[in-house]
Amino acid sequence: MAFDPLPPIHLPPLEVAPNTYLLRCAMRALGAPITASVNSLLILGEEPVVVDTSIRSNRHAWLADLTGLVDPADVRWVFLSHDDEDHTGNLTQVLELCPNATLVTTWAATERMSGSFSAPPERLRWVHDGDSLDVGDRTLRAFRPPVYDSPTTRALFDETRGVLWASDAFATPMPSDPVERVTDLPVPMWAEGMAMFHHHVLCPWLSVVDRDVYRSQVERIRDMAPTTIVACHTPIIDGDAIGAALDNLEALPDVTPPPHPDQQALEAVLAGA
Ligand SMILES: [Fe+2]
Ligand SMILES: [Fe+2]
Repeated sequence: MAFDPLPPIHLPPLEVAPNTYLLRCAMRALGAPITASVNSLLILGEEPVVVDTSIRSNRHAWLADLTGLVDPADVRWVFLSHDDEDHTGNLTQVLELCPNATLVTTWAATERMSGSFSAPPERLRWVHDGDSLDVGDRTLRAFRPPVYDSPTTRALFDETRGVLWASDAFATPMPSDPVERVTDLPVPMWAEGMAMFHHHVLCPWLSVVDRDVYRSQVERIRDMAPTTIVACHTPIIDGDAIGAALDNLEALPDVTPPPHPDQQALEAVLAGA
């Protein structure tokens, strides 16, 4: 017996830098009074870029948000940060809707998705860690972020606008009512939430990484000096919060995360139902 997924909370797009829009929704968690954002990005310019494609349950609203901001015929690139369902939920639909778009991904992601998705080879572009993508009026850089839950993951940095799309990195829960910026989160919730999400949901291997090597991966982002960090599962990070976010990220290997909901929490859900 299959159940439909809980409907997401739709949130209106936000312009996070000139002509750069965060497309947003949030999911309620089962067994915990939290929500998790599921964002994607639209970079407008000479050759518009869609970055990740949200989730299936958000399809109608996501496509409406997207087409309200750009003519699908003008979209030139669909950048897929990795092959997880919360990033590929509307991939087929966006490629059908945007006939002039090339899918930017990796060979590994293409292979991992091959049982359920394929694109004509002439509509594919594969990028390695550190590769650049020319989008007409500027260059975007694809790179592997310090943390990820798929080995295919590429973050994307728009140096011209200072905007970093970090894929799953910087993931944090939000309160029951979603917030726009990490500075809207209760202070302990942000650091504890990042620890909980990264250690339990995203990258449990953090506790065994070589600390110096890991730190060097975080330094890569510091060296890029982004002015705005956006990602799938975090409110917007900008201003003074960028330094704090990088400090939180760097500290993660040695942080003991709070527990995540267990069988008792599930039984409480069932008792409530
Ligand atoms: Fe992921
Ligand atoms: Fe994700």
